[in-house]
Amino acid sequence: MSDPDGFWGAQAERLDWVKKPTQVKDVDFTLGQVKINWFADGTLNVAANCIDRHLETRGDQTAIIFEPDDPNEPAQNITYKDLHRNVCRTANVLESLGVRKGDRVVIYLPMIPEAAYAMLACARIGAIHSIVFAGFSPDALAARINGSDAKVVITADHAPRGGRKTPLKSNADTALLHCKDTVKCLVVKRTGDQTTWIAGRDYDYNEMALEADDYCRPVEMNAEDPLFILYTSGSTGQPKGVVHSTGGYLLYAALTHEAVFDYKDGDVYWCTADVGWVTGHSYIVYGPLANGATTVMFEGVPTYPDASRFWQVCEKHKVNQFYTAPTAIRALMGQGTEFATKCDLSSLRILGTVGEPINPEAWNWYNDVIGGGKCPIVDTWWQTETGGHMMTPLPGAHATKPGSAMKPFFGVKPVVLDPQSGEEIDSYPVEGVLAIKDSWPGQMRTIWEDHERFEKTYFGDYKGYYFSGDGCRRDEDGDYWITGRVDDVINVSGHRMGTAEVESALVAHVSVAEAAVVGYPHAIKGQGIYCYVTLMNGVEPTDELRKELRTWVRTEIGPIASPDLVQWAPGLPKTRSGKIMRRILRKIAENDFGALGDTSTLADPSVVDDLVENRMNRE
Ligand code: WT7
Repeated sequence: MSDPDGFWGAQAERLDWVKKPTQVKDVDFTLGQVKINWFADGTLNVAANCIDRHLETRGDQTAIIFEPDDPNEPAQNITYKDLHRNVCRTANVLESLGVRKGDRVVIYLPMIPEAAYAMLACARIGAIHSIVFAGFSPDALAARINGSDAKVVITADHAPRGGRKTPLKSNADTALLHCKDTVKCLVVKRTGDQTTWIAGRDYDYNEMALEADDYCRPVEMNAEDPLFILYTSGSTGQPKGVVHSTGGYLLYAALTHEAVFDYKDGDVYWCTADVGWVTGHSYIVYGPLANGATTVMFEGVPTYPDASRFWQVCEKHKVNQFYTAPTAIRALMGQGTEFATKCDLSSLRILGTVGEPINPEAWNWYNDVIGGGKCPIVDTWWQTETGGHMMTPLPGAHATKPGSAMKPFFGVKPVVLDPQSGEEIDSYPVEGVLAIKDSWPGQMRTIWEDHERFEKTYFGDYKGYYFSGDGCRRDEDGDYWITGRVDDVINVSGHRMGTAEVESALVAHVSVAEAAVVGYPHAIKGQGIYCYVTLMNGVEPTDELRKELRTWVRTEIGPIASPDLVQWAPGLPKTRSGKIMRRILRKIAENDFGALGDTSTLADPSVVDDLVENRMNRE
């Protein structure tokens, strides 16, 4: 692209601005002075862009189709007019609880329409939302409420999922014990089950929304004001609060949604993600609604009541674009094709995947069985940090290859760097680490209240570039293949997990002296969680303890962090300076101990023999 500023300046026209921006981009990737600004003198409101501006032309069109967990419960069609009323009411409820522009609101909800109302209500009054996935534990919730100093947490009585119920309100009660006593709790009725109630702290959303006024004026926001915070795992320490902007983020989500899914007026689009992850932010709520689309919100799981649920929902709502994760495809593929072939999937036009590299076998099944060989597959590589798609084939424009994210999106400048020297390698085929040379409007702006960590994490290793943390290969045609994380982050069922987080949960247990966690190849999840645990002196290594540690990590972090394999390690391989050599632990977990490499620098090389001998992942 010869004139990216001209391109993005023209693209800004797809949003409704209160004050049109005259500036396009003001960016510096230099460590120590990193700044990222797009359309910095423009003002707008995200909720007005996602709702109000559609009212005249498509007020009666369905904005959100809500498909509940239980297939016998009726689906809901929420029109743009309904959405407007509900979002305004929710915004007024938040204002009545004292929420003002710039305040933080934590959202801990099931995949119900109220989650979208809450997001857009925050955007309408200029509050910054921080969504916590409903599968996270009370501890994780408390850390995020405190981390952003939120005024209000919005939750529900229970979250139905796969026929079971997660007690969200009770989790929130536990979390709030560890938060300031001024934090208010707004409770949405989902299942109607009784929950404990603390007068003066807990507020009944349904009651308040009914009484609230059904208009609320959208607040004029600067393009660079934060729209939301979303926590994501890194290779060290606590999860980072990724901050996204108002103008650039919305523009990027909207453009990529339209271009990558070839979204056309009247299409029904379904992304199966949860709003607890960035995919749900950009591609269930903000991108589709900014485009006036009809977007499906699904509360359930792919395998409930059985493995045909996804395909039944596609048939029922005549879905045109379907976007899911490789782990779901692999799980469903394993159940047999009849679950899919018995459904009418003729409405499907585009298929998408996201979250991890897709193996060719799963890609081919998706292509043949679900797409009938007629639907282009968009394998979209991106990250919480990037706000939207960074690399993907464009339907109709690019060829596809099973497992390749193919080409950069408009204006995105990927580079492959030599991991040691940090030099750009222009030639191909080539393999190295993946970095991005220049900014795009959807890029994260900072880490919440820790700009220094932001600079260090993303601009510290390779000077002048945004470093993705992924490895990649550029093939002889110049197409890109993501090879996975090169840091201590693992990808479990498309969810990102810092091994350091699991380790600190393990060592918080009284019986554990030390722990090291690595990923290993897992047929369905992509990567599984492999833990090496050294017990305190005198503690017996039993199967019960193994089970207890698994439960412990689930309660500390959440079910997605459940260890798959726990190996008792009398000692861990360490260098003489005491650094754990994860390279070796990874190889053992992968059953690749023939290739352990040089172990002579270890303080005690004999620990390796014990670990190999007692490894858990024997084939
Ligand atoms: C990491 C980001 C962005 C939404 C979901 C995950 C991996 C993501 C792909 C893909 C290969 C992928 C990368 C990336 N990843 N999409 N199409 N092919 N790998 O967001 O939790 O921020 O994780 O997911 O390793 O760095 P996230």
